[in-house]
Amino acid sequence: MCGIVGYVGNKSAVDILLEGLTSLEYRGYDSSGVAVNVNGKVELYKAAGKLQNLKHIVEKNYAEISKSTIGIGHIRWATHGAPTVENAHPHSCNCGKVAVVHNGIIENFKELKEKLEKNGCTFRSQTDTETIAHLVATKFGEVHNLTEAVRLATKEIEGAYAICVIHQDLPNTIVATRRNAPLVVGLGEGENFVASDVPALIQYTKKAMYLEDNQIVTLTPDSIKLIDIDNNPLAQHIEMLPWEPVALSKMGYKHFMLKEIHEQPDVVRNVLSGKLRAVDENVSLKEVTLDKEKLRELSRIQIVACGTSLHAAMVGKYLIEEFCEIPVDVEPSSEYIYRKTITDKNTLVIGVSQSGETADTITAVRQAKSKGSHILIITNRPDSTMAREADSLIPVNAGIEVSVAATKSYIAQLISFYLLAIYMAEVKGACDLGDLKHELIILPQKIEKVLAHKEDIQKFARKFANSKDFIFIARGINFPTALEGALKLKEISYINATGYTAGELKHGPIAMLDESMPVLSILMKGKVYDKILSNSEEAKARNARMIALTDSEDEKLNELFECIIRIPEISEILSPALTVVPLQLLAYYIAEFLGKDVDQPRNLAKSVTVE
Ligand code: AGP
Repeated sequence: MCGIVGYVGNKSAVDILLEGLTSLEYRGYDSSGVAVNVNGKVELYKAAGKLQNLKHIVEKNYAEISKSTIGIGHIRWATHGAPTVENAHPHSCNCGKVAVVHNGIIENFKELKEKLEKNGCTFRSQTDTETIAHLVATKFGEVHNLTEAVRLATKEIEGAYAICVIHQDLPNTIVATRRNAPLVVGLGEGENFVASDVPALIQYTKKAMYLEDNQIVTLTPDSIKLIDIDNNPLAQHIEMLPWEPVALSKMGYKHFMLKEIHEQPDVVRNVLSGKLRAVDENVSLKEVTLDKEKLRELSRIQIVACGTSLHAAMVGKYLIEEFCEIPVDVEPSSEYIYRKTITDKNTLVIGVSQSGETADTITAVRQAKSKGSHILIITNRPDSTMAREADSLIPVNAGIEVSVAATKSYIAQLISFYLLAIYMAEVKGACDLGDLKHELIILPQKIEKVLAHKEDIQKFARKFANSKDFIFIARGINFPTALEGALKLKEISYINATGYTAGELKHGPIAMLDESMPVLSILMKGKVYDKILSNSEEAKARNARMIALTDSEDEKLNELFECIIRIPEISEILSPALTVVPLQLLAYYIAEFLGKDVDQPRNLAKSVTVE
């Protein structure tokens, strides 16, 4: 949820820290700060609010701050303590010599704080992080070695963390460690980097080393030393990062969200590439390592996910049940983990996550893993914590997604579910899905057609932008699309939007309808078309403002609906991969028209690493 950057080398650290924090800003943005070492003294600069506020402070003191060639920086999404300057990271110890940035939560911070206070430490913030600064400083006082001080401190800390520490007396050393929170080291020439996520590194180096839990790394400009928590030296596994810096540019679009919506045709092509080669060939999914015999014998599938990924999972359920006739349960991870986990080795458990760092989903898959279930992870981040829990790993290859509102990663997850369901059906010899495969191959062109008419959606958006509430209705496989359309709108425009199964409308929600309420019906030709049409009539009879999203050319719709968003014809079973696109655009244009901060909506963070 928060972002960490560290730099030690031969250049001005603060420039690199601020660049890095800018590329991590999507992870959290309620306060930020940097610690540098100027003339042998650790100095902290912090600001509440957006990163821009920190940049102003740095600008004013630039002559001084820019002298430092070492530094650590942080962008925060508050968990313990309000997003104030006092609570912003870095935090320091009483003498001010140690500075720490931290992602995650220290679960035993109250006990640690009590102990440290008894030993004379004075706390200045409400954060759990400050305990680390005092603890490391205390240990340093005993051992006079920063790596050893951090190592001893981590033996006492419980919880999830990624930490970077500097000490005033060591102007060329950063020590970093992690447990259940990501951290990656970037290797340069005469300089080294550390960050919570690769976007902060890729403009400087593609050589990287991912830290594992409980590993401690010591960085100087010319060296990297890796040890485990018991002080054993470890071999370093250096990899080349696949990301390109261009992935972090808006490429001329006003917002990342709009750019990412436009990337979706290519994302579909990428996901299909190498897996669905031709209509008359079986889907190839080498990523699924579950033995084919075992796959045929599966008695049940459970899918765990949160937010947008949960909606993709709901479509996945529909597909797998339809093609493979295996019962599938979909559950928000945050619910799954707080009840008895009923699963076994005949159950396949699928975790879905864009970031691969969502704490609830990680816990859910770990719980299932401990019961012997095969764990299949569908994620956009094969380098993530969740990916490491996988027995089978399907990377969705959407490319880095910067906007907090997920769009292209959703499409990528959906397409992965189509491939998985077809693959499983083919392994089971269940049904011929040639038509669907053909439609998948031509899907990118249909998405391009929707994007080519985005101005129409922009016009509708303006018409409805001042609505206080919004209802989305659908049935069957597009019910998750209604939920996703509502979620997108809520997230970025703050309009109260809800998705309902159209049949449920008359069981309560219809009471809310009047002439001020827009109701958007997802009305795709197929087995539930007539039913949704009747439900739309019922809503119209209560004076709701009706909008249709449809592939039907039926003239009669003009009487019932105030606005009609027409999209290319598509089979009902594949339609969620197309219907979501105009809803993403609708949410985008409403938020943009209202002047909202589209890419960084209030109170949210890109990856939610706390339960
Ligand atoms: C999507 O627009 C949201 N920002 C959010 O619901 C997100 O999908 C959810 O937090 C799950 O994240 P994940 O896919 O990274 O696990």
